[in-house]
Amino acid sequence: MKQDQSKTPAMEGEVFYPPKNITRRANVKDYDQLYKQSIEDREGFWAEQAKRLKWYKKWDKVLDDSKKPFYKWFVGGKINIIQNAIDRHLHTWRRNKLALIWEGEPGDLRTFSYHALNREVSKFANILRSMGVKKGDIVTIYMPQIPELAFSMLACAKIGAAHSVVYGGFSVEALAERIADAKSRVLVTADGGWRRGKINDLKNIVDEAIKRSPTIESCIVVKRTGQEVYMESGRDFWYHDLITLPIACTNGCETEKTDAEDPLFILYTSGTTGKPKGLVHTHGGYSVYTSTTHNYVFDIKEEDRWWCAADPGWITGHSYIVYGPLINGATVMMYEGAPNYPYPNRWWQMIEKYGITILYTSPTAIRGLMRFGDEWPKRYNLSSLRLLGSVGEPINPEAWRWYHTVIGDNKCPIMDTWWQTETGGFLITPLPITPLKPGSATKPFFGNEVAVVDDNGNEVKTGEEGKLVIKSPWPGMARTIYGDPDRFIETYWKDFEKQGWYKAGDSARVDKDGYYWIIGRIDDVIKVSGYRLGTAEIESALVSHSAVSEAAAIGLPHELKGNAIHAFVILKAGTEATPQLANELRNHVASEVGPIAKPEDVTFVDTLPKTRSGKIMRRVLKAKALGQDVGDLSTLEE
Ligand code: WT7
Repeated sequence: MKQDQSKTPAMEGEVFYPPKNITRRANVKDYDQLYKQSIEDREGFWAEQAKRLKWYKKWDKVLDDSKKPFYKWFVGGKINIIQNAIDRHLHTWRRNKLALIWEGEPGDLRTFSYHALNREVSKFANILRSMGVKKGDIVTIYMPQIPELAFSMLACAKIGAAHSVVYGGFSVEALAERIADAKSRVLVTADGGWRRGKINDLKNIVDEAIKRSPTIESCIVVKRTGQEVYMESGRDFWYHDLITLPIACTNGCETEKTDAEDPLFILYTSGTTGKPKGLVHTHGGYSVYTSTTHNYVFDIKEEDRWWCAADPGWITGHSYIVYGPLINGATVMMYEGAPNYPYPNRWWQMIEKYGITILYTSPTAIRGLMRFGDEWPKRYNLSSLRLLGSVGEPINPEAWRWYHTVIGDNKCPIMDTWWQTETGGFLITPLPITPLKPGSATKPFFGNEVAVVDDNGNEVKTGEEGKLVIKSPWPGMARTIYGDPDRFIETYWKDFEKQGWYKAGDSARVDKDGYYWIIGRIDDVIKVSGYRLGTAEIESALVSHSAVSEAAAIGLPHELKGNAIHAFVILKAGTEATPQLANELRNHVASEVGPIAKPEDVTFVDTLPKTRSGKIMRRVLKAKALGQDVGDLSTLEE
């Protein structure tokens, strides 16, 4: 084996052409032509796509850009995403088609037809309605990867309430902050979830979080793991009790006729300050964008079995486990647990068992499974696969080739999709007909004008690194940051205000063929195993510990995780710097933010490099740790 596979440079000359059986049946036959058309008449293109959906009332105007950057799409239209993801399928043969195949980590199996999906979602929606949840409310959902996670999201949408899903791997403080920001009155959770044979004790975390964020009046608890949990009388209700009530009837739950621009959900993501940003997505544009991208990029056919192996608690799961695929009437696979539990064959076994045709996952998962060797996948018949996908961080060519050769048998094109929580869906992505270069997300999706520019907005030379900007609006774009429109402008639109461009926060380069190569974040966001974390969240968790005076967190390259967190800490006077304390601090971050945020190591220091205005210069710490030139230090104070 080579020493450090992640360091193998991408070879621009290496091109993989899609096989004939894929291109012949592809939902898009000519990228260049359709792209050109979509740019020349963007609104016409999106109006055409929107026609594939069912609207209660057609829109008056495709795009309203009178209040930039607060764009509105399909203005005047009435649509509910549930009308498209569930209701309309019930009047077709899809009523009997599998909507969801779910496998729990212990091996339990549950499947739901579209008919059954409607039943489960209607029950849940009736319960929420009976608790007084209505349009304008935000329900916080904190769940393991079980079907009820999807049902509760869909139930909120059905009654016109917005959901705010907090990823089940987050911990007390992260959950409490998100509940407080959304001012949720109702919380949906479970006793726990299975992860690597152990119980992730969600209800305990919820109880702690509610103490810090007391807006919660009612808490619906789904029984999953069965251990004893605390239930506060009058506040906590078992879901299996609620569904026996007459109110939870399985039909007669009318879908709310929401406006195209009514909020569908808020999803919090990390930014440069400690306070998480709640990105707002809406019913109309998001329905159109997720279903169109899913259809064109993953080339969905009626007989497909689609598996996006992300957690529904992230945008990937929102857009491509729950909403996009269900709108397209697809059969969706969902799995609760760890990829290597009890053995590293788990995923390959499930692909064979369920006949999965498309697998969409992250580079970190691929690298993790690659590490166990080819024997594990080789024991299984993976020939049902026809397309593969990757998302979350740049995929290193070594992992790309393994995925392509060992998992895809050299016959499955890999869709390396670049996008963000903010974008709602794929922005730069191949199509099944695109010649692929390992490590490149290739070209912009239809309707999107993209560029790599310098600080003044001038396009950089071919092959040079610059800032990635999106020059044109798209229907899936986040509408604002919940409760903080100024921050929305400040974060994404301020830097290129004159031009009216969206700043992605990534650096990238474009090669001579117009292919985009994403390099990574250029702000204080660290991508750990594809998960997005803010340095500020980690630092504020560290300083909340009584021994810590100041802290700085940086990301450094890691072979498996892409990046790993390293923390630098100044202790309070008189506190002794011991290895035990370093460990305690690492665990403290894990219990405040979540296990994914646990630093690799904590280094005790006497000073931190700061600007004269007191901002920590993380790039100096990073350059020093990597043994690189620290660059311009003219603003350094200490
Ligand atoms: C950031 C957004 C999980 C859905 C997307 C993640 C990085 C995402 C790619 C890709 C290189 C990628 C970027 C982006 N990223 N996809 N295909 N190639 N980098 O959503 O958690 O909001 O993170 O993920 O840095 O800005 P997110």
